[in-house]
Amino acid sequence: SRAAASAVVLALALTACSGSGGGGGEPSDGEILHLALNQTDQHPSYIALTAFGDRLSEATDGAWTIDVFPNETLGAQQEALQLVSDGIIDFAIVSGTQLENLNRDFLVFNLPRVFDSVEHQMRVVHDDEIVGELYSSLEESNGFTVLGGFTQGARSIYTTDGPIVTPDDLAGQKIRVQESELQIDMIRAMGGSATPMAFGEVYTALQSGVLDGAENNEVSYVTQKHFEVAPYWSSTNHLVGLDYLIINTDTLRSMPDDVRSAFDDEWADARDQFTELWAQATEDAIEDAKAGGAQFSEVDTEAFDAVLEPLAEEYLSNDVQRELYDAARAAAEPEEP
Ligand code: GCU
Repeated sequence: SRAAASAVVLALALTACSGSGGGGGEPSDGEILHLALNQTDQHPSYIALTAFGDRLSEATDGAWTIDVFPNETLGAQQEALQLVSDGIIDFAIVSGTQLENLNRDFLVFNLPRVFDSVEHQMRVVHDDEIVGELYSSLEESNGFTVLGGFTQGARSIYTTDGPIVTPDDLAGQKIRVQESELQIDMIRAMGGSATPMAFGEVYTALQSGVLDGAENNEVSYVTQKHFEVAPYWSSTNHLVGLDYLIINTDTLRSMPDDVRSAFDDEWADARDQFTELWAQATEDAIEDAKAGGAQFSEVDTEAFDAVLEPLAEEYLSNDVQRELYDAARAAAEPEEP
């Protein structure tokens, strides 16, 4: 699939040359923006992003459009991020874990227990006062700008061999995590042993027994069909994850003002649409997984809280991280008396 990805990239590079900017005579007042996504076309992010593209196209009389490539066609997230960095494609959706590897301040939002709910998370990650500097922090070094994102909802553990109730149940189990030191330590703290791996490889690894489990949200559990091979879902709800939309900074700066303002408006609407779709998609996924034989279990939440809560203290290591963390926590709903 790497060969396939490079073929697509080459094809994109060729169309890019004959499109705007480069070639003389070609129209230079519009763009087809290429967006890499690692989800299927059933996933709410694909639906919200294609609708975003349609509205942008309408608002610009067809001059600016977005072409969404699902299913890791343009590569897994690490590769897609590099393509955006290099300006070969314009956008990608990447998980917070990918950004944490480039600027460790992003890890604050990848910590367990930093967000209490999707609503809380959305309030924080689209508040310019909190995230403005963070989101432009990779422009000089990596050539892309962060535009905010879509929730991943609460992530939980699922396994091949029976439910997890306490951290002890994870002893000796190999659990797939995203490529991140924090996620590796998190699974270790939760009692298991972690194997970092790209998203698209997880199904086969679960099926062949290379992995005993993974952690994700219900929607990915179903759209990736992981429930078929790891039917024990245990509701650890260990963190509320975030997917970022990243855009090549030159692409962003090349937008004329009127296009940019339509773009910003439609992107804000896309985020709202996504959040709405997400709630329904999560409910549907639970139904579908159960109908497909998955078994959902509650866990000993206090036992998991006890091992997860210390991670924030361990990981916050500079003033920027502490400020982000405090701002995030300050935006939480007040605790019930
Ligand atoms: C979720 C998330 C993706 C991420 C994936 C993973 O599906 O939305 O961005 O890549 O989890 O666990 O790798």
